[in-house]
Amino acid sequence: FGVLRFLWRLTWISALGSFVYLGYHIYDSKHPPEQLPLDPTKKTLVVLGSGWGSVSLLKKLDTENYNVVVISPRNFFLFTPLLPSCTTGTIEHRSIMEPLRHIIRHKKRAVQYYEAEATKIDAERRVVKMSDSSDVKGNVSETEVPFDYLVIGVGAENATFGIPGVKENACFLKEIQDAQRIRTRVMDCIETATFKDQTDEEKARLLHMVIVGGGPTGIEFAGELHDFFEEDLRKWVPDISEKFRVTLVEALPNVLPMFSKALIEYTEKTFKDENILVRTKTMVKKVTDRNIEVEVTQPDGNKYKETIPYGLLVWATGNAVRGVVRDLMSQLPAQKNSRRGLAVNDYLVVDGTEGIWALGDCSVTKYAPTAQVASQQGNFLARLFNSMAKTQAIEEDLFQLDQMRESAADEAEKAKLAAEIEVKGRSLSRIKQLSPFEYSHQGSLAYIGADRAVADINWFGGVISSATGGELTYLFWRSAYVSMVFSLRNRILVLTDWFKTKAFGRDGEI
Ligand code: FAD
Ligand code: NAI
Repeated sequence: FGVLRFLWRLTWISALGSFVYLGYHIYDSKHPPEQLPLDPTKKTLVVLGSGWGSVSLLKKLDTENYNVVVISPRNFFLFTPLLPSCTTGTIEHRSIMEPLRHIIRHKKRAVQYYEAEATKIDAERRVVKMSDSSDVKGNVSETEVPFDYLVIGVGAENATFGIPGVKENACFLKEIQDAQRIRTRVMDCIETATFKDQTDEEKARLLHMVIVGGGPTGIEFAGELHDFFEEDLRKWVPDISEKFRVTLVEALPNVLPMFSKALIEYTEKTFKDENILVRTKTMVKKVTDRNIEVEVTQPDGNKYKETIPYGLLVWATGNAVRGVVRDLMSQLPAQKNSRRGLAVNDYLVVDGTEGIWALGDCSVTKYAPTAQVASQQGNFLARLFNSMAKTQAIEEDLFQLDQMRESAADEAEKAKLAAEIEVKGRSLSRIKQLSPFEYSHQGSLAYIGADRAVADINWFGGVISSATGGELTYLFWRSAYVSMVFSLRNRILVLTDWFKTKAFGRDGEI
């Protein structure tokens, strides 16, 4: 009974603790403290983008030291790892969006935000040209913002490799609008397939969901679509049961090249069980509004062409460089050999510039373009800017102390000031010793449908690594992603959505 009583009390204490924690966060979120105003004597730090890299920087940056200006066409942060779940309504899009205004309102000094697209970076004149990309425009919709320091975190756009018809006919999966478009399109295909007198051939086309690209984006979307079909659509519209098909097309010999061989095989086997057809060594060459034209490489190396009809086409073939980044690269001779984005040094300074940094998918490093890399780079730059500000403050102090020592009247005072200078000098050299950016890989995770996930995880800083797949890994995937969601509000929304989907099913887009 003693043990039971103890456990009972422990439960109460943890419940009370959680309640206080929740209460504090809700209060804090609704009552942001007064902010310091912008200070013209401080240096202007312009940050482009509101994605993983830029927002990680903003969260950790001590804004007291700079006048920070953020320029991004998206006035929210998007938690991309859960974006595939929005395509089928497993998670509502609002649950993975965090308003940028809320983030910057909680910084010490006010941060200026412009909802605009950076159209040109003039490295020589040190200005960013920006254009209001929203539907509502005022008299002024284009202007320039000068900077002392610039951080470029504009991400990447969808790669289409110039394949004809992709831009016009395919859906992508990068932004929230893309997920909403897919969600609507899936339901449209079903409703049109069940239209009176529709031919069998047309039904088969409309109910054929084709995904191009066997990277993690394509794989996770295929898994989500499978769940939607098995758990909801099949029950709502039994007529489509036999004709609904999902095909994943990949140019390489296997999917998920970044995962271990065992997990690739596990994923391919799971997809077979889920009736998702994986067509490897199949490269899309052309897209029309109803078909994709592919080139298939046979085991003997011979190639043949095939036309595959589709109702929904989701294009997930990776990243391409954005126009504004390509333009900056063309201004800098040091970037002439760089193709996939801005070449940066170990401190993320853009090669060929001073005071301009780049992070995330728009930069090129030895690491993959992932959220993990972008957010660690953002944290690194926040440390760098915080220590730059501290260095400057200490140097100014040292200059003043040195002058005071020179003009000090008695020896005791001089010795006291000398000791103070020595202490400050030591702390200055400690702060200045910021080591270069080093990425710590925590592992790769991907959801593959049917409550299964695959994970290549590094434990204890890479000392132990494990490759697992299955239902337990799925629970790990869920808890890892919930803990990674930035705010408590979004965490609660995501958990509620998962519960809602399990209890009542998804609702599609009506
Ligand atoms: P982004 O997060 O893309 O942010 C770019 C920002 O720049 C956006 O705010 C955009 O609006 C803004 N912008 C664009 N153009 C301009 C302009 N001209 N001027 C100013 N601002 C501009 N990675 C993982 O590690 N784990 C995952 O599970 C994972 N899942 C993913 C799922 C999906 C569906 C996708 C698409 C990606 C996923 N990724 C994942 C990859 C990850 O999202 C990216 O690597 C990451 O978003 C890169 O961060 P970033 O800050 O460079 O760019
Ligand atoms: P990706 O670059 O990882 O994969 C794209 C795939 O498309 C490649 O396998 C390529 O061979 C294939 N492809 C290209 N052209 C083709 C064509 N014409 N026909 C058929 N196949 C073609 O792209 P993805 O999945 O969009 O990921 C982008 C980045 O985001 C990666 O770095 C990835 O690691 C990261 N990411 C990570 C996730 C995770 O960790 N769970 C989830 C989603 C993305």
